[in-house]
Amino acid sequence: MTTITLDKQHWLNTSHFLKIHEGKLIFWDYKSHCQFELSVPHLLRLIDFSTGSTVRDTILDREINQAGVLTDHSANSAWKWDWLAHIFHYGTCHPLPPAIGLTDQIAFDYTKSYTDFCESISDREPEVELIKGGLQINLPKPDLESFHSLSLWEVLAKRRTCRDFDGSAISLTDVSDLLFVAFGDQRAPDPTIPPNVKTYGFRRTSPSAGGLQCTEPYLWAINVEGLPTGIYHYLSRQHKLEIVTEGPPPHPIGTYLCNQQWANDLAFAIFMTCRMEKMWWKYPHSRAYRPMLMDVGHLSQTLNLCITSKHLHPWMTGYFHDSEIAELLQCTPELEHPILMVGAGHGSGSSLSRESRELFTSSFVER
Ligand SMILES: Cc1cc2nc3c(=O)[nH]c(=O)nc-3n(C[C@H](O)[C@H](O)[C@H](O)COP(=O)(O)O)c2cc1C
Repeated sequence: MTTITLDKQHWLNTSHFLKIHEGKLIFWDYKSHCQFELSVPHLLRLIDFSTGSTVRDTILDREINQAGVLTDHSANSAWKWDWLAHIFHYGTCHPLPPAIGLTDQIAFDYTKSYTDFCESISDREPEVELIKGGLQINLPKPDLESFHSLSLWEVLAKRRTCRDFDGSAISLTDVSDLLFVAFGDQRAPDPTIPPNVKTYGFRRTSPSAGGLQCTEPYLWAINVEGLPTGIYHYLSRQHKLEIVTEGPPPHPIGTYLCNQQWANDLAFAIFMTCRMEKMWWKYPHSRAYRPMLMDVGHLSQTLNLCITSKHLHPWMTGYFHDSEIAELLQCTPELEHPILMVGAGHGSGSSLSRESRELFTSSFVER
């Protein structure tokens, strides 16, 4: 906390917001993770401090001082995003300095408190598997040999975001293989874990925050041989699809992706949602929003590489109309949200859409 000298000018820190909640006015200092209930006189005094004011020897000023919300310098920030991003970024930073001198005892204490915590929440486990209830469809048995034609390095070097697809079909076998390698349950328990230790969830080929597998995959089949156009949920543990929406959605996919219209020529798209209920079961603090995004990022890269390995072209986006996509996927409001989409198809492999190439060519000619 800053030491305040009376009768000197001080400013209100910028890392706060005000929230009206259940008849109370709450001052939330999101860097220190402290919340205070404000009275109207507190509020008026804080407004004074927002442009700089002298700290006086009054009960009100002493309370404000003790709350640690004043600084001895006026705000001069290099931050260029808006306050919402500031709240998210600083509000999800770790508020405490590191514990120096990690001894064996501290390491043991950490492990013990972690296992005690896991035990304490074990009676509230969210369902591991999301089953939406639609008609289930068996998928072809995965053909893992089909990923052997290129080495890992060749796949890494070849992966490139494509924005020029030709709309041609992809086989259901290819889609099924991709779903399995990126999202399927790999059923490979860690042999070093003693049998009496209860584990939660399942494993995929990508790492997952807390081992929760909070990411759910949805297939939008646009042109997949042997699979009617529509939206399906992939049952990761059973390697099956379940129907979410039969038939094409009301608009082409590009319309939902903020008019990135080259997406209409994809053969399929996989939307990844996060089941928030899993995340906030194990990680009640908002910092968990970060690993939630990273979880999807890891799966996306795995999928991008697997698509490339099959000599198909990938394209991805996080830019879409969230509510409309959530509605198409029939996500339970508040509990599950779409985060990212990875699509694939055949095409030229160009990173420029046909429209961009046309535009660049004509402006080149004009010059
Ligand atoms: C999180 C994320 C979001 C992205 N969103 C879009 C997008 O909305 N539209 C798009 O055309 N490309 C998107 N991309 C693809 C990037 O533009 C692309 O990866 C980048 O230009 C580098 O090209 P490369 O993937 O071929 O290496 C996204 C990539 C990432 C990782």
